[in-house]
Amino acid sequence: VLQIREVTVGLLGCGVVGSALAELIHAEEKEIAASAGVKLNITKALVRDTEKDRNGLKKKLSFTKELEEVFKDKELDVVVELLGGEETALAAVKKGLEAGRNVVTANKLILSAHGEELNQLANRNGCSLAYEASVASCIPVLQSLDVTLAAENFHAVTGILNGTTNFILSQMERGNLPYGEALALAQQKGLAETDPSLDVSGQDAAHKLVILARKAFNISLTPADIPTAGITNVSAEDLRFAAHFGCTVKLLAVARKRNGKLEARVAPHLVPTGHTFASINDESNAVVLEGEAVGKLLFAGPGAGALPTARAVLGDILSIVTGERACIPGRKALNLAKIPLASPEETRSRYYLRVAFNDQPHVLAQVTCILDACGVEVHRVEALGLGQGNIVILTHPATEAAVSASLAELAELDFLTERPKAFPIFDEPQSN
Ligand SMILES: NC(=O)c1ccc[n+]([C@@H]2O[C@H](COP(=O)([O-])OP(=O)(O)OC[C@H]3O[C@@H](n4cnc5c(N)ncnc54)[C@H](OP(=O)(O)O)[C@@H]3O)[C@@H](O)[C@H]2O)c1
Repeated sequence: VLQIREVTVGLLGCGVVGSALAELIHAEEKEIAASAGVKLNITKALVRDTEKDRNGLKKKLSFTKELEEVFKDKELDVVVELLGGEETALAAVKKGLEAGRNVVTANKLILSAHGEELNQLANRNGCSLAYEASVASCIPVLQSLDVTLAAENFHAVTGILNGTTNFILSQMERGNLPYGEALALAQQKGLAETDPSLDVSGQDAAHKLVILARKAFNISLTPADIPTAGITNVSAEDLRFAAHFGCTVKLLAVARKRNGKLEARVAPHLVPTGHTFASINDESNAVVLEGEAVGKLLFAGPGAGALPTARAVLGDILSIVTGERACIPGRKALNLAKIPLASPEETRSRYYLRVAFNDQPHVLAQVTCILDACGVEVHRVEALGLGQGNIVILTHPATEAAVSASLAELAELDFLTERPKAFPIFDEPQSN
């Protein structure tokens, strides 16, 4: 008869993901025992408010407000951090690793900013640190990078990494909704926080890109290395104009190695409607990895949500306790290379550029004159109406520096009704 090993789990946070995890562990006790040979016992769950009604979970779990209460259990095998936020979560993860406990977390905020230090700490203490759910929820991209693709030489990582903003853009396009209404709908459906700033500013996607690119390229990287723009500047008009050019708008996180440098950014991009990314809608996520031997690999699926995320956290816990996947950060995670970042003068793209103005003569001449002076070549130009004058331009490949300079000059024109804007057009990464 196979022995069932008892495993003690300390749960930090019992909100959307933590409570779904606790439910899964209870509901699937038999299956977990049969497949992994373990029984997971959640001893204590750390929360802010122990009085809160927790849908029957109070009968199954013991809640505490004191971190020490979770840590005082001598048998503690795995600490699962699902608090969110930065300070308390980081302190708790460090405390766990320093005490020699294995840690599973879904916290992209702390991993992007402190992941390198946490890997070192885990290694020094001989502990596992697993975080599949931190990037694209249950889509198994991090573990694929760790295992099957461990020895691949990647040159590009691109993704739709934030479900909230993808939902908002999909709604703006399909329902022809203004940004504010689409955001309100996302909040109503539980897809956006009351304070959605980390999502809509693009920072959440940048955090995930850091975690992904660090693993794929084995490089040292922080969120400050990623130029980041969110979706607050994308209007329903931009989506309509994009459609006019056979494109949609997606918030893409892009990291590519070119000429020995890293080009990385998070920004709204025009994506041709025939491209795979254009069909990733609502809260779905997608990641494309491009490597020397494997070519192009597409991962897609739910990028958020209680159950998919809890499923990935449970998978990490089982990997660690069964020892079926090495999660102690090893050589690769500890020896990250430094790579120079490409400057705005070196980063080239085609761009979509829009100038909205009160009807005036000679506007087009003034706009094209500025672009010409800044070294931005026009590929296609159209004057489009929609209640006001709009000049919409698709450029030839131009440097980011030239486009920024031209936007600054265009913003000085006195007949504008909006700040001029430019979004890169997504082109397939060139290998190098
Ligand atoms: N939700 C998703 O779809 C998703 C997807 C991928 C990754 N993640 C990540 O998973 C983590 C958890 O997200 P979530 O959506 O489950 O968050 P959440 O619903 O806000 O839950 C947070 C939990 O942590 C507790 N908590 C927070 N700060 C605390 C503190 N200082 N002391 C004690 N308890 C504290 C809260 O207690 P109370 O219940 O008493 O308020 C709550 O139970 C985050 O890092 C998030 O980025 C979430």
